[in-house]
Amino acid sequence: MTHFSVKSSSHPQIKKNFDLTSFNTLGLPSKAARFVEAFSTDHLLKLHEQAFFQEEFPFVLGGGSNVLLKDYLDISVLKNSISGKKVIKQDDSFVWIEAGAGENWHELVDWAVEQDFGGIENLALIPGTVGAAPIQNIGAYGVELDQVFESLELFDMRTGKLHTYCREECGFGYRDSIFKHELKGRVIVTKVVLRLTKINHIIHSSYRSLNDFLRENNITKPEIGDIFDAVVAIRRSKLPDPADLGNAGSFFKNPVVERAALEPILHEYSDIPYFEMEGEVVKIPAGWLIEKAGWKGRRVGNVGTYENQALVIVNHGGATGEEIYEHAMRIKASVKKLFGIDLVPEVNIVQ
Ligand code: EPU
Repeated sequence: MTHFSVKSSSHPQIKKNFDLTSFNTLGLPSKAARFVEAFSTDHLLKLHEQAFFQEEFPFVLGGGSNVLLKDYLDISVLKNSISGKKVIKQDDSFVWIEAGAGENWHELVDWAVEQDFGGIENLALIPGTVGAAPIQNIGAYGVELDQVFESLELFDMRTGKLHTYCREECGFGYRDSIFKHELKGRVIVTKVVLRLTKINHIIHSSYRSLNDFLRENNITKPEIGDIFDAVVAIRRSKLPDPADLGNAGSFFKNPVVERAALEPILHEYSDIPYFEMEGEVVKIPAGWLIEKAGWKGRRVGNVGTYENQALVIVNHGGATGEEIYEHAMRIKASVKKLFGIDLVPEVNIVQ
């Protein structure tokens, strides 16, 4: 007997006036004029044949964990639900894994750690999909995706063709890549290949809060499973679960400023945490700036700043995209006034 899954139906279904409330982790009420879900690369090719990409390029939605959606989007939205994960190659030291862009990122991390494949355990519990991971070069606890990234395949909406991009072609930076610039809005990531270690895992445990956690728990020689468990525990204690409290992780990027701009702040706040970077610049935790500006745990109507991490803006229930945006702009103005530093949203504002 042949089974036909509804999900992988051979033709993508275009829907009108589609409710996106359950498709964004801030839980914002939002409707898209047109919506289509792609479950395979074949779906993208079919949409191209139907001239779907001719009038406008849709906004591509992954896990909806890094977006702020306005209440009505007079655009097309394409949900990327391309699935699958497998080992495609290995040698004595490394394994290459390939995952569909629509796979849940944390489930991929969990799957890798289960098999003792090392390299992404520090990136446990980052919300979102595999396809979104390279776009913003996700990072946490001393590791960024580009350290293990091998290549990705993308669909070019302009031509309807598939292309492979290797790491050097992706222009990775801090929460940044070519997909936020030259290729923004023109391509859809279909799959991602990562190179992970099978033996001689490199353990990244020096990030302050991770190191503290391991010490407090008497873990002196952490394995990748210990790092995974520690990151999960730290994230659960500091970051709200979107299932309980709508949020999109860090709302702003950590600002990178000239060393000279730090000096006057250091004068007044000798406890300011910062990280020296190449070229006389420093990265300052936005969460610290926001906390010092008095926003940590503060609520205005339905919107608030999370009590355990000031970089996270939360929906206490019933908030709209506009309210979240206004809250973010008030925070930005306060930080600018107090420190003269411009905060830039990390979250993608879709309107
Ligand atoms: N801090 C405060 N007050 C706060 C929050 C933080 O003073 O309310 C201070 C902390 O004490 C610490 C420093 O800021 O000294 C850094 O805090 P934390 O380790 O929590 O990291 P972060 O810089 O705020 C970044 C990422 C997170 C990632 C963590 C851990 C960005 C924009 N954010 O946050 O990523 O999980 O490091 O590596 O780079 C995300 O991108 O959505 C995200 C959650």
